[in-house]
Amino acid sequence: MCGIIGYVGTQDAKKALVDGLQTLEYRGYDSAGISFFTDNKIKTIKKVGKVSNLRENVKASASDMESHCGIGHTRWATHGGVSDTNSHPHTAGKVTLIHNGIIENYKELQDELAEKGVFPVSQTDSEIAAMVINDLYDGNPEEAIRLGTAKLKGAYGFCIMFEDIPDTIYAIRSGSPLVAAHTEKGSLIASDMVALVSYTKQYFVLKEGHLAKITKDEIIVKDEFGDIYGPTIHHISWDVGAAKKGGYDYFMMKEIHEQPESLRNTIKPRFINGLPDFTDDGVPDSLFEGIDKIVITACGTAMHAGLIGKNMIERLARIPVTVEIASEFRYQNPIINEKTLIITISQSGETADTLAAIALAKEHGCKTLSVVNVKQSSIARESDYVLYTHAGPEVAVASTKAYSVQLSVMYLLAFKLALITGNVSENKIREYTAEFADIANKVEETLSYDNQSENIAKRLAKAEDIFFIGRGLDYMLSCEGSLKLKEISYIHSEAYAAGELKHGTISLITDNVPVIALATQPDVYAKVISNVQEVRSRGAKVILITDSDASVDASLCDHQIVLPETSPIFTPFLSVVILQYLAYYVAVEKGLNVDQPRNLAKSVTVE
Ligand code: M6R
Repeated sequence: MCGIIGYVGTQDAKKALVDGLQTLEYRGYDSAGISFFTDNKIKTIKKVGKVSNLRENVKASASDMESHCGIGHTRWATHGGVSDTNSHPHTAGKVTLIHNGIIENYKELQDELAEKGVFPVSQTDSEIAAMVINDLYDGNPEEAIRLGTAKLKGAYGFCIMFEDIPDTIYAIRSGSPLVAAHTEKGSLIASDMVALVSYTKQYFVLKEGHLAKITKDEIIVKDEFGDIYGPTIHHISWDVGAAKKGGYDYFMMKEIHEQPESLRNTIKPRFINGLPDFTDDGVPDSLFEGIDKIVITACGTAMHAGLIGKNMIERLARIPVTVEIASEFRYQNPIINEKTLIITISQSGETADTLAAIALAKEHGCKTLSVVNVKQSSIARESDYVLYTHAGPEVAVASTKAYSVQLSVMYLLAFKLALITGNVSENKIREYTAEFADIANKVEETLSYDNQSENIAKRLAKAEDIFFIGRGLDYMLSCEGSLKLKEISYIHSEAYAAGELKHGTISLITDNVPVIALATQPDVYAKVISNVQEVRSRGAKVILITDSDASVDASLCDHQIVLPETSPIFTPFLSVVILQYLAYYVAVEKGLNVDQPRNLAKSVTVE
């Protein structure tokens, strides 16, 4: 959720921190702040608004202050409204800290401190954590952090500075991610690798409960017993340019255009002799043997990829699959056991609810497999097996390329499972995979539909409600199209199984209400067309997306988009590009910040 960074080294810490926060801004953009040592004192500057606003403030009030050590934070507000006071860093006595996560028992701790006559100035749970650590501090920082964090319930990633220990940062985490690196220019710690990549490609993940002491010359990590621990160094496989806009107005558009490459990187290495193979991923076929059902659990867009995964696995492998929203799954007392394969899907690999679903699955003895984009993320580490998607960093809050590659892995899994169950012949699977191996090129072709999509989007931008309808795969894709649109354009939108309209929703269709209908599946094509006629006769403006084989009576819709030629099972990869474009261009037409929609953050590390 929030973005955090710490820097100590030879460079100007203020600049390093503000630049780092700029790369982390997608994690939260309610306010931003930094604290840094200058003249052996800690100076804090924090402001409501974007990092650019903080940058101006730092320039105006601190450009002559020398500093080589500091911490910075970009906030997604949870406890306490959006204000300068509630912004991070928070200071209590000698302690200044930044926090990503939620301290659940902050009220009780606040009451304890009140009895000692200590009161917070903000409404945040994070300031209470600073007060707790300060209360226990008598010159031994590690002891105060250990004793203090032992009192906290909830999730946290902290970077902490002590007023009387200059040019040193301490960091500890529970639940919220922290990665760190030591480089020639100094040492860094952050909530995400994107903040490190302009310094180095080597990093390590701070483990749960480990405590790091970060200075210019080294990072010393101690485990929960106080023993020095040598962390495993990982390598960032993408380039610094991957986390920059590269000439596009918004990251979202850049990431839409990166879909063909992301698909190639994700699919190609997993074909051997025309058949899906997960050997290099360390995922053995035996994982799939003896399972009697699959539960896919995820949130948001990742959950929508799961819906299509269910359709493909059930269709090809005939194994029963349910798709559960991770935040619901946890509290449903699900019927799962050692014969259940739990598949979690996540771009960030840090989504708190999805992570909790894995913990629950493990308690029930289930096998766990995750489909994750961020290497070494918490979900990847907690799962028994991982299939990484290779989309590179996704910065726009609205997920695009991550969705496509998640879909591609679900298709690979469906092919693999169909072979294992023997439900589809090897020859037929080879036919599918031969076409699938070319899907990135088809997606590339669909990218040329931008002008057409933009023209349609301009007409949609004034709508107050927009409906998406479809059947089967098209319905599942409609869910994603609708989420994308409402997320970044703030237009109310809903996705409906086209046949379900008559059971309530059709009462909302009045003159000029836009309906985006997907009709790419031959087995239900005629049915969807009937549903289109039903909404048209009630005044709806219909945008119809069809496959290349469909012959449509021109009077049936206001606009038709015909996808490049492909087999019906692969149309989701193409249709989604159109839906992403429509959402994007509607938001641009409305003058909105496409990459940072209000109230949202990229990585949802709180439950
Ligand atoms: O990082 P994850 O894939 O676990 O995130 C899950 C959702 O928060 C995410 O897919 C969200 O719905 C998208 N940003 C929407 O575009």
